[in-house]
Parts: sequence; C-alpha cells; structure tokens
Amino acid sequence: MSAYDFRKIGHKLVDEIAGFLESLPERKVTESQSVAEIQNVLGNASLPQEGMDSAQLLKETTDLLVDHSLFNGHPRFWGYVTSSAAPIGILGDFLASAVNQNVGAWQLSPIASEIEAQTIRWIAEFIGYNTDCGGLMVSGGNMANFVGFLAGRKSKTPWDVRKEGLQNRDEQVRVYCSDATHTWVHKAADLFGLGTDAIRWIPSDIDQHMDVAKLEEQIETDIKLGFIPLLVAASAGTVATGAVDPINAIADLCENYQLWLHVDGAYGAMAAALPEAHEDLKAIHRADSVALDPHKWLYSPIEAGCTLVRNAQDLPDTFSFQPDYYQFDIEGDQPPTNYYELGLQNTRGFRALKVWLAFRQVGSSAFVETIRQDIQLAQAMYDAFAAHEELEAFTCHLSITTFRYVPQYL
Ligand SMILES: Cc1ncc(COP(=O)(O)O)c(C=O)c1O
Repeated sequence: MSAYDFRKIGHKLVDEIAGFLESLPERKVTESQSVAEIQNVLGNASLPQEGMDSAQLLKETTDLLVDHSLFNGHPRFWGYVTSSAAPIGILGDFLASAVNQNVGAWQLSPIASEIEAQTIRWIAEFIGYNTDCGGLMVSGGNMANFVGFLAGRKSKTPWDVRKEGLQNRDEQVRVYCSDATHTWVHKAADLFGLGTDAIRWIPSDIDQHMDVAKLEEQIETDIKLGFIPLLVAASAGTVATGAVDPINAIADLCENYQLWLHVDGAYGAMAAALPEAHEDLKAIHRADSVALDPHKWLYSPIEAGCTLVRNAQDLPDTFSFQPDYYQFDIEGDQPPTNYYELGLQNTRGFRALKVWLAFRQVGSSAFVETIRQDIQLAQAMYDAFAAHEELEAFTCHLSITTFRYVPQYL
C-alpha cells in the first residue's frame, strides 16, 4: 500500500470510527442474531486467491463489524466488568501497530520497553503498591493471574520446581482460594502441573468473603497430613459480586505460614486508588503478586492485563532462560529490561502504550473520579432496589449490585 493510499484510506477509516463512536448511544447494544444468521452474513467464501481494493475492503469490514457486534462500550451495556474503550487507547493501539515493536527484548524495542516499565510503575503507584516492584503487561486477567501463580509456585516449592517439576514426588503441594474465585485458578492448577485436586476451596460467607478461620483450619490440616501449602489466592473484587476478601487477615496468615499471597484484583484492584477505599482493598500492597486488568477499570481497549510482583527478582527467577541465540546484553551501566525473561511470552506486542497514553491524557485523578462514580451508581441502584417492593437487593460491592425479582402478585 502506498503512503498516499494509506493516508487516504486511513483518514476515511478514522472518520468512520469517529462516526461509529458518536452513534453508539443511539445503537442497540446488540442485534442478538443467531449463530446461523451471523454465519450467513459472513458467508463461507474460500481463501481469497486474488486481492481487492483496500478502500472498499475496509468500508465493507467496518460495516460488517458495526452492524453485527455486541458493544461493551454502549452506555446501556451492564453485563460484565469489561469497560468501554477510551478513544485515546484506540489510537494508541493503532500507533503501537504502526511502530510494530517486539517488546520481548529491550534492544528490539528500546523506548517501548521503557514505556512499559514506566506504565508498570504508574499502575503500582496508582494502587499504592511498591513502585520498585516487578511487573509486565499481559493479555488479561487469566494470564495476569497465571504469572502471579507461577511466581508463587517457583518461590514456595521447596525443591527446584523449574527443573524437577512436580512429578513423582511423595510431597504434594496445595493452593488455597475461596469458592467465589474466578475459574482462572482451575486452569492454573491444571496447566502448571498441580492438578485441580490441589485446590482447597475455602468457603465464603453470605457476603462472598473468604472465611479466614476456615482457611487457617485447612492449612493446619494439610500440614498435619504432610501436604505442602504454597499459596493463597485472595480476590480483590470477585467476578460474580465484587466482594473483596479480608486481605489484611489473609496476609497475616500468609506471613505466619510463609505462604505466597497472590491477589486476583483483575476487576477490583484499581479501586484501591480511592482514598476512601476499604482497608482490605488498600492491603493489596501486602501481596507478593497482584493481577489487575486495565481493560476493566482503566478503560483500555481489549486486551490489557498486568501483573505486579513485590520483589522484582521473582519474575526472572520464575521465567528466565538465556539461550545462546539470544544475545540481548547491552553495554552500559544499566542492565536492559528484557520482557521475554519476565513472563510467558517471547514476541510481545506494545500493550502498555494505550495504558500509558490514558494516564497521561487524563491523569490518575480522572480515573479515581470515574471509578468513584461507578461505585456510587452501583450503590444508588442497590438503594433503589432495596426500596422497590418487587425487587430484593442482595449484595453491593464495588460497582456490582446483585438483586432478584420477587413478584408480589402471581
Ligand atoms: C476477578 C476476575 N479474575 C479474572 C478474570 C479473568 O480476566 P480476563 O477475562 O481478562 O482473562 C476476571 C474477568 O472478569 C475477573 O473478574
């Protein structure tokens, strides 16, 4: 594509996108079409052998997407905690694709690697975590939790788990979380060799908070039975109701028993930035690792997840291999940050850019205000439901209100 065509078609696409964003409130959240209807719209053309006009292609594709998508950025989309995409982030993804950095190694992405490191520090500062922490951007909450889980597995398994794995050992490890924990923990236990039987599901109370007395009981029982407790995964904002576990008490237990404390704050951790946040949310700073999602409460376009680890060295200790064919050392007094050594990915995109741009565009105070407003709206909804004779308000945590319909006249 020539520079001339790129400009012409690109300007047209930006106009189309701006029009789409403007029109969003007037559209339906979704047309609710069936699988067959959507497949029919797309048709089942075989692999194109010949190309087509780029302008026409982009116009057709824009229409296809705008007419047949579900818009989580719609003002009346209240289904999940995925946020709308801030326009600065849309432009950020466009720019990131254009410079096409491989943020796996510093040498391949000098300024992008530094922007990612700065973004990590800003996210840490935003939620009150130590800013000399380690961390990296990932695709979302599942991956962010996996990184923390793996760091805990490496740090607390009392043998060289990276070399020996978990096979053929008499000792078996155990991990702890409440029964309200997101399903990432199933995948982590399965994929990383523990097996789902290694998960101890600690009951949560009526308000969905982990029962810390039961947690301690289970840890004690497991120690007596010869199991090795590794880590506790607490939730800062459970997926279903937004409940925040008693993180302070869990952190005390983890200190006593020398366990890794991982906090799944994929949804709720950003709310720790509010001065009025609950003490247990603020206690996230005590966690060894935290998962959090800019594509939830920082309004980044999908995908943007992030893991922070309190001790930066834990990431290379968990993930680094240095094959001969990677020569990414750099002369100078400062060692480069090579992200391929800090997580699961090798070639990595520039996800940090959209988050970094958003912090710079509106400042952290704007995020504090939007998060506060979301929480106030959920509370207003709870109060309205509580006052309604046919609705029973149930829970209200962070920006999630649950309720049920109780018909009076059947
Ligand atoms: C508490 C919690 N953890 C993990 C996840 C998984 O995040 P993702 O869908 O970004 O992988 C979610 C998603 O809603 C969540 O709410």
